[in-house]
Amino acid sequence: MFEQTTTLLEVKNLSVSFDGFKALTNVDFTLKEKEIKVLIGPNGAGKSTLCDCVIGKVRPSEGNVFYKGKDISRVTEYKINQLGICRKFQAPGILERLSVFENLAIASRVNRSWHKNLKLGISKAERDRIEEVIALIGLEEKRHMEAAYLAHGEKQWLEIGMVVSQNPDLLLLDEPTAGMTAQETAKTAELIRKLVADHTVLVIDHDMTFVELLAAPVSVLHQGQMLKEGSIDEVRNDPEVIKVYLGRSQEQEGQEQEGLDA
Ligand SMILES: Nc1ncnc2c1ncn2[C@@H]1O[C@H](COP(=O)(O)OP(=O)(O)OP(=O)(O)O)[C@@H](O)[C@H]1O
Ligand SMILES: [Mg+2]
Repeated sequence: MFEQTTTLLEVKNLSVSFDGFKALTNVDFTLKEKEIKVLIGPNGAGKSTLCDCVIGKVRPSEGNVFYKGKDISRVTEYKINQLGICRKFQAPGILERLSVFENLAIASRVNRSWHKNLKLGISKAERDRIEEVIALIGLEEKRHMEAAYLAHGEKQWLEIGMVVSQNPDLLLLDEPTAGMTAQETAKTAELIRKLVADHTVLVIDHDMTFVELLAAPVSVLHQGQMLKEGSIDEVRNDPEVIKVYLGRSQEQEGQEQEGLDA
């Protein structure tokens, strides 16, 4: 069993090239067991590429990814998933015509012949586990609603629930609050904070209000390199980070505000 301080994921000296273009250069990054970390950085900084390397979708040109001490840099995407790493993509992967409950039932089954499985029924233990996830994502009232009728935020929570249903040790959430209202964003932060009781979570996001609500250590990527790691306050007050990322977004917001005022 892993202790609180055990390193779960270790990215070492990772570089990725796409046809000569260096998307990541000598990146080091670690995640401890049952920890949340947030990865931020401007568009094109390499955040999704880092996730792609962890899940085995992209191969590093240099460096390694260690998971529970094992080098997984050359392991297939399927096997990495089986080892307990699961990623939620930005595009929704829910089945709109099925209910919340049915979507979770499918996600929790390793055997993907879901139609047959659903007809054959679900065991008490499986049902209890699904209900646990429904409570976690706060969709108790909507468990039998077709997923198509859920609000945007609810669809995202269902999808997080579907990832959780696979019982991964490590969850990678790439921009989970995209398109959410402020209220939905706050609820998502609450949900993610609950996840660390049983999981390790890496969150990528641009929304600094959300990052603050997560109250987790932050890593800043810039042009494929790790620019700064630390607490939210350390990152927010770092002159380099302000220059390349936060200052720029504040400036952009200011310009947008001016546009609105004009
Ligand atoms: N498969 C690919 N082939 C070529 N270039 C790619 C590929 N994937 C990503 N890139 C490039 O690598 C760089 C990093 O992209 P990545 O998607 O990792 O950035 P990001 O930090 O996730 O950005 P965003 O905030 O916009 O999601 C970008 O310049 C991107 O165009
Ligand atoms: Mg991205």
